[in-house]
Amino acid sequence: MPAPESLASPGFADLVPLLRAAGCVFAEDEAQVLLSEACGAAELYEWVERRISGEPLEWIVGWAEFCGLRIAVDQGVFVPRRRTELLVSQAASLLREVVGAADLPASGTLVDLCCGSGAVGVAVVSHGSVGELHSADIDPIAVECARRNLAAVGGHVHQGDLYAALPARLKKQVQLIVVNAPYVPTAVLPTMPPEARIHEPPRCLDGGADGLNLHRRVIREAPEWLDANGYLVIETSERQAAGTAALMAAAGLAARIVHSEELDGTVVVGSPQCW
Ligand SMILES: C[S@@+](CC[C@H](N)C(=O)[O-])C[C@H]1O[C@@H](n2cnc3c(N)ncnc32)[C@H](O)[C@@H]1O
Repeated sequence: MPAPESLASPGFADLVPLLRAAGCVFAEDEAQVLLSEACGAAELYEWVERRISGEPLEWIVGWAEFCGLRIAVDQGVFVPRRRTELLVSQAASLLREVVGAADLPASGTLVDLCCGSGAVGVAVVSHGSVGELHSADIDPIAVECARRNLAAVGGHVHQGDLYAALPARLKKQVQLIVVNAPYVPTAVLPTMPPEARIHEPPRCLDGGADGLNLHRRVIREAPEWLDANGYLVIETSERQAAGTAALMAAAGLAARIVHSEELDGTVVVGSPQCW
C-alpha cells in the first residue's frame, strides 16, 4: 500500500479488503490492531505494506496475545501460537498437583526449554505455583526477547543447546519441564503458510526427517533433570503424538497423550511414575 502524498490515514473500511486480499484470515481483527497501534499515518502505511508482504502481524506491532497476556515478540523470534495454550493449561494443573502433593510452599521449579519469546513459562507463572522459572533457547535473539518478557515475573533465561544451557544444580530438582521444540518434518516445511515458511527461521520449525529429532534429545535427558514426582510436557502434532509417546516409553517415562479439538493442540505428558 504506497503512501499517498497527502498521507491521510486509511480507515478500517480501507484496510479490511486489502488485508483480506493478501490472505489474512482475520482481516477485521488485524485491521483493528494495526489502527490502534500505529503512531500516525506514515507508520500505518509502512505496517500495512509489511503485513501485505506476509510479515507476521506480531513482529510488526512487537507483541502477541497469548493466554490473555501481551508477550513481546521481536523480529526473528517464533510467534507463540494459540494451540500452545494447551501446553500451558496442562503444565499449570500438573504443577499445582505436584506442589500440592509434595506439600512444597506453593512453589515448584519450572523449566521451559526451546522458550523462544518465553511465552509459555510466563503464562504458566501467571497461573501460580511456580517458585523458580528457568527458560532457555539456543538463539540469542530469542534469549534477549525472553529476558524482557521474564523480567516481569522474575525468572532466569539461559542461552544454549537444550539442557546444556541450564545450571547443573537443577539436576533431579525440576518439578516440570515444558517444551515446544521444533517438530515439523523437514519435507513439510515448504507447505506451511507464508508467514512461517518465508519469515520464521527454520531453526524454529524444522524437526528433522520425522519431526522428532528434538523430542528424541529432550526425552532422553529428561530423567536426569526431573525430580521423582516431576513431569515432562511436550507439544507435538496429532499425527506425531504416538511417536513422541513411544520415545517417552523408551526412556522409562509413563506417557499420556492429551488433545484439544478447540485449540487444535496436542501434548504428550511424561512422568517417571506410573499413571
Ligand atoms: C517452535 S519455537 C517455540 C518457541 C516457544 N516455546 C513458543 O511456544 O512460543 C522453537 C524454539 O526452539 C529453539 N531451538 C531450536 N533448536 C534448539 C536447541 N537445540 N536448543 C534450544 N533451543 C532450540 C528455537 O530457537 C525456537 O525459539
